Amino acid sequence: MSAFDFVTHFRGEAAPGGADLIAIDGTDRFLLDEAPHVHGDALRHPGTVAIVDDRYGVLTLGVITLHGAADVRVVQDSLVGERALEANAGLFRRGGFHHPESLEAAFRDTRLVLVRLGKSLDRLDEIARAVARWAAPDVVLLAGGRTKFMTPAQNDVLRRSFGEVRASRGRGKSRLLIAADPLRAAATRASITDPWPRRVFSDELGFTVAAHGGVFAGTSLDQGTRVLLGVVDGAEQEARDAIDLGCGSGVIAAALARRRPRLRVVATDVSAAAVASARLTADLAGVGDRVVTVRSDAGDALADESADLVVCNPPFHADTAVSTATAEAMFRNAATILRPGGELWTVWNAHLRYRSALERVVGPTRQITRTPKFVVTASRRD
Ligand SMILES: C[S@@+](CC[C@H](N)C(=O)[O-])C[C@H]1O[C@@H](n2cnc3c(N)ncnc32)[C@H](O)[C@@H]1O
Repeated sequence: MSAFDFVTHFRGEAAPGGADLIAIDGTDRFLLDEAPHVHGDALRHPGTVAIVDDRYGVLTLGVITLHGAADVRVVQDSLVGERALEANAGLFRRGGFHHPESLEAAFRDTRLVLVRLGKSLDRLDEIARAVARWAAPDVVLLAGGRTKFMTPAQNDVLRRSFGEVRASRGRGKSRLLIAADPLRAAATRASITDPWPRRVFSDELGFTVAAHGGVFAGTSLDQGTRVLLGVVDGAEQEARDAIDLGCGSGVIAAALARRRPRLRVVATDVSAAAVASARLTADLAGVGDRVVTVRSDAGDALADESADLVVCNPPFHADTAVSTATAEAMFRNAATILRPGGELWTVWNAHLRYRSALERVVGPTRQITRTPKFVVTASRRD
C-alpha cells in the first residue's frame, strides 16, 4: 500500500460516547518522516524499534509499512489506543508488532524509540528512565507533540536520563525532542533510589498509595475523591460486590475494601499504568485478595448485573480536550453492571451538570452532599 493510501485510509476509533477523533495528525507524520534520519539503521534491523503511546496505531503501522521495520515493540497506556492499533492492523493486513509485558521487555536493546508525548511529565520520566536503563547504547528517543502543549520541563525530564537532548524546529503545529546518549548508570541508580511506581503512605487513608507515572493525582488524594470517600460509608450497607470505575491509583477500591471487610471490589481503568498501580495499592493496603483489577474502556469488560455498588470519580478530559463523553459512557455501563436496586455513587465538579444524564441512563438520582466545588450523587438502578 502506498504512503498516500496509508494516510488517507487510516481509521480513527470512535471515542467513548461516539465522538470521532482524528486518526493521524501532523505530529505522527513528523515523527514518521524524521525517524529514518535519526536512526535509519535501527529501522532495518528486526526487534530494535519501540513505539510508545501510539494513539491509533499510525506510528506502529507507519514504521512497518513506510520504513520496513519488523518485530516492533509497542507500549500503549490506553486500551482504546491498543484496540485502534489492532483494528487498523487488520485493515492494513499488517502484523509485525507486539505488546511486551513490561517496560524492560519493551526497551531492552532497542535502538530507536518513538514517543507520542502526552501531558504527563511523570509518564515521560518513567519511560525515559526505562529506555536509558535498558536500551542499546546507541538508542535515540524521538518524542513528538503539539507545540502548544509542550514545555521546557519536558527537555529537563529527558536530560535526567540522556546526555544529549535537543528540540527540532517546529513543523506546522508540532515539534520533536531528540534524546541520545543514555545515562544508564544514572537511570539505574535513580530507579533504586526513586523508583516507579512511587509509593507514599497516606496518613489520611491509613495505607500506602502506589502510582506509576501519569496516573491521575499520582500518590495523592484528589479533592473530589476526598469528598466522595467522606460520604460513601452511607452507601448500600448490604453490598457484596462493588466496582471502582476509572480507578486511577486504586485509592477508592482500597479504601472501600478496607472499610468493608466482606466487600469484593473490581477496580477498572482504561490505562495500563492505572490498573498496575491499583493492583499494587490494593496489595500494599492488605486487601489484595478482595480487589480484582481489570483494564476496560469505561467498564465495558464487566459483566451485566455483577455489582450492587459502583463508585466513580469520572474523567472530564479526553487527551487535552474537555469532554463529558467518557463519563457518560461510564454511566451507561454502570446501569448495566448494577443489579436492580444497586447504586452508582458519583462525584463531579458542580459546574458539569451531570444530573440529568444520571437520571436518564441510570435512574432516580439524589444529592448526597455538595461543597462549593463538588457534588456527590447516588443514582439507583430500578
Ligand atoms: C478523575 S480520575 C479518578 C481516578 C481515581 N478513581 C481517583 O479517585 O483518584 C478518572 C480516571 O478515569 C480513567 N479513565 C479515563 N478514560 C477512561 C475510560 N475510557 N475507561 C476507563 N477509565 C477511564 C482515567 O485513566 C482516570 O484514572
